[in-house]
Amino acid sequence: MPESPFYAAVESRRTVRDFLPDPVPQEVLDRALDAARLAPSSSNLQPWEFVIIRDPAIRRSAEAACLDQGPAKTAPVLIALVTHRDTWRRNRDEILRTFEGRRPLRPSQASYYKRIIPLIYTTGPFGILGPFKRAFSRVASLFKPTPNLMSREDIRIMAHKSTALAAATFMLALRAEGYDSCPMEGFDPWRAKALLDLPRGAELNMFLAVGQRSDKGVWGDRVLLPRDWAVREL
Ligand SMILES: Cc1cc2nc3c(=O)[nH]c(=O)nc-3n(C[C@H](O)[C@H](O)[C@H](O)COP(=O)(O)O)c2cc1C
Repeated sequence: MPESPFYAAVESRRTVRDFLPDPVPQEVLDRALDAARLAPSSSNLQPWEFVIIRDPAIRRSAEAACLDQGPAKTAPVLIALVTHRDTWRRNRDEILRTFEGRRPLRPSQASYYKRIIPLIYTTGPFGILGPFKRAFSRVASLFKPTPNLMSREDIRIMAHKSTALAAATFMLALRAEGYDSCPMEGFDPWRAKALLDLPRGAELNMFLAVGQRSDKGVWGDRVLLPRDWAVREL
């Protein structure tokens, strides 16, 4: 890989399963969080929330929800990364306000955020409209290229994709600062959701353990699958 701070961070980032007890300076955490907020997201709706767990009692329950995994127990900082399907209206309105504060809203911006986004994100009570929207898109696609109008499940996937990109950006930013992380989806989603008191339209994307690796933090050399399994040309 070329020599650059970016590639150095990419290459030296490893999943760390055992951390030193040393605290993570708040300014390091803040910079990495602000980098994560720059991650791309579907329609720029930024459906993520990083919940930094400070309360000792909540922390203990979070460790249990993470199945008492080593990284959750040893990391000086534990973060719950939440994906929101329930914030699209608020976020859309803020985007429109920002656009309008800069210059008169372009017709394409107005149409996209006022018409298309509600069409995509509205799935009715209990997601009842979702299967019809999806079926309509599927049939229309037989005749011309058509975007998926999205069921609730499709929206979940979309929101999780964007949130995972924020997680990746966060972990690389931490590495650029000389800090480490462990992403964890090995957790009890029901207990974690109740612990964080999340609304119906939100769920845990992953937990992130953050700190500095101990000398037993990295479990061996990387195992990288063949390049042509990951990349192909058509
Ligand atoms: C979405 C996601 C969930 C993961 N969950 C866990 C986990 O619960 N516990 C754990 O020890 N590692 C977890 N990992 C870490 C992977 O095992 C690790 O990224 C992989 O083995 C490659 O190692 P590396 O990150 O050191 O390159 C997770 C990684 C991702 C991306």
